[in-house]
Amino acid sequence: MRKNIVAGNWKMNTTLQEGIALAYGLQVALNEKKTNCDVIICIPFIHLASIAGIVQTVSVGAENCADKTSGAYTGEVSAAMIASTGAKYVIIGHSERRAYYGESNAILKEKTLLALANGLTPIFCIGEVLEEREAGKQNEIVKKQISESLFDLSAEDFGKIILAYEPVWAIGTGKTATVAQAQEIHAFIRQTVAGKYGKTVADNTSILYGGSCNAGNAKELFANPDVDGGLIGGASLAIDKFLPIIEAF
Ligand code: 13P
Repeated sequence: MRKNIVAGNWKMNTTLQEGIALAYGLQVALNEKKTNCDVIICIPFIHLASIAGIVQTVSVGAENCADKTSGAYTGEVSAAMIASTGAKYVIIGHSERRAYYGESNAILKEKTLLALANGLTPIFCIGEVLEEREAGKQNEIVKKQISESLFDLSAEDFGKIILAYEPVWAIGTGKTATVAQAQEIHAFIRQTVAGKYGKTVADNTSILYGGSCNAGNAKELFANPDVDGGLIGGASLAIDKFLPIIEAF
């Protein structure tokens, strides 16, 4: 059965020293608690090796990976490099990458293949912008994002993917999808996966919600049958804000 997951996305925040202190503090705090979900922190590339070495029950992921295997791509970081640090996860297709770095569904397909080939679990992000939501096109948009990037995968490989639905209008805005909006589209996403890979694969796929998720709303969001956890931005940068979200399970 699918896992409950709370994943942090630190984005472009924290120096290495601040990042180590945050990860270490989180691990120490979790050592004293019993959690009912997997905890992942997705962190800047340069933090990966150091932090993967100091956490035990917290897993580490990158926030992006290259769409090429290796070679003359100055400044890029490959999936193999990420895996070599001890990281186990990688966020692919975050809306900030799609919007600011022009990452298309085709590019994200390549990134997903390389992540899987290197043993990384992709946390694959999908979600509509405000105008699309206002035009009632959210289902169409997420279906296109999933099918163009992921539906050439075998059922076995698709089974390794974590999906994260993040309505772009809710990211960093303090505006959260309502519980009903989240459940409705998560159910649609699961139904879309079932249409391609069958009910068992769909039932085993963890679908996270992201977008202004915090200690105050996590419990009611996670109580939805099709919401299997959260991808947390701002609130993952402080232990006292992130812990209550983990404890919402
Ligand atoms: P916020 O939680 O800051 O809205 O960010 C969500 C997000 O983009 C996580 O990937």
